[in-house]
Amino acid sequence: MERKYIIKGRKPLKGEIEVSGAKNASLPAICATLLAPGLYKLKNVPKVRDVFNMLKIMESLGATYEFKKDYVEINTEKVESVFIPYELASQMRASILFLGALVGGFKSAIVPMPGGCAIGKRPVDFHIKGISQLGGNIQLEKGNLVVSAKKLKGTQIVLDFPSVTATENLMMAACLAEGETIIKNSAKEPEVIFLGEMLKKMGAEIKGLGEDTIYIKGKKKLKPVNIEIIPDRIEAGTYLVLGALMEENEVVVKNIKKEHLKTPILKLEEIGITLEDVGKDALRVKRGRILNPVKIITAPYPGFPTDLQPFFTILLTQAEGISFITENIFENRFLYVYELKRMGAEIEVENRTAIIKGPTPLMGSPVKATDLRAGAALVLAGLMAENTTTVYNVEFIERGYENFVEKLLSLGADIKVEEDES
Ligand code: UD1
Repeated sequence: MERKYIIKGRKPLKGEIEVSGAKNASLPAICATLLAPGLYKLKNVPKVRDVFNMLKIMESLGATYEFKKDYVEINTEKVESVFIPYELASQMRASILFLGALVGGFKSAIVPMPGGCAIGKRPVDFHIKGISQLGGNIQLEKGNLVVSAKKLKGTQIVLDFPSVTATENLMMAACLAEGETIIKNSAKEPEVIFLGEMLKKMGAEIKGLGEDTIYIKGKKKLKPVNIEIIPDRIEAGTYLVLGALMEENEVVVKNIKKEHLKTPILKLEEIGITLEDVGKDALRVKRGRILNPVKIITAPYPGFPTDLQPFFTILLTQAEGISFITENIFENRFLYVYELKRMGAEIEVENRTAIIKGPTPLMGSPVKATDLRAGAALVLAGLMAENTTTVYNVEFIERGYENFVEKLLSLGADIKVEEDES
């Protein structure tokens, strides 16, 4: 079965749209439940494919879970296995998060090497190096990372790049290591801070969250907790751009943590979008007739997020002049540009920079999602384009957006979901 979205564009979008819990905060939080056996309640976990997949992996380890009204209950009392099945892990790169959680909780793990991914090489060398510095003996056997450790011992780890999931993995393992671990050049993303706060609630001693260096004093034991997942800043950014696409749009984005989106919000304002506060966690988006071209360079947080890059490309096709977007995190994240060009966009990619010439009206066309964010961005392009756009491979989008189509329909979008036999 192949799913596709058929979009009739240029319908004015009006109303309120609510941001769900963050996928990238939920995935490490689910893994962290392996650090202390017991019952956890995770509120606001989005019902998206990556989350279901992660929970299935948890089940294969011996955990149980149940979705209640607004939380998911996870019981890790009976977890015995440390073997992550390839069939489930190969579907998501974030399965690497089981490495730190299992090594921390069980001192052993068998985790498939995550495969390559459309947006770049995405190696896991920092994860491997850090875990072995903590005392894990890691071998690569038949495509699996096989780890065992007599004991984990705190140490100083310097990351060559502030990798999000490497920082998360090392924090999880270090919480149950003997002595102090210092992680230098650590990631500062809100999702990393969130995981750190969850671990602290579980009894870990962590300092320096959101700074360059994180200090962790290992504990003998942690305890289960109830937590609430933070709102998804990338989903929020997606809907801010959505609101900005057409002059007729009147969109209010709710449940948005503005402090997590400072750089993208500044960029939107520079482009000429007005964002009006309507209550504590809500913004009304309005665009004027003319949009300004800008330069954007993606960077680790608090820089401009790579995950929002494709959405700004779509918006900048409508700016008066030439914009530049430089992708500094993943080397292959402009594949969607070739799809967008089929819709009439004038974009050239030179090395790591997309040069976007605007304004160009977009025309409906068949296009395919090349990854999660690019897929959602093509849907936005379709909503702004004349006539009909068909987006193929939408399974990518459903990995990370909760009720995407339903939310867009509630604003007045014209989208039909179809499944092809293939
Ligand atoms: C996380 C996010 C993803 C986001 C990305 C960057 C999750 C589940 N995913 O991915 O949505 O796009 O952060 O904000 O939270 N690198 C290495 N070796 C390593 C690890 C990373 O060279 O061992 C490189 C990567 O190839 C990339 C850069 O470091 O160029 C940053 O990647 P990283 O922060 O690790 O991204 P993820 O954690 O995979």
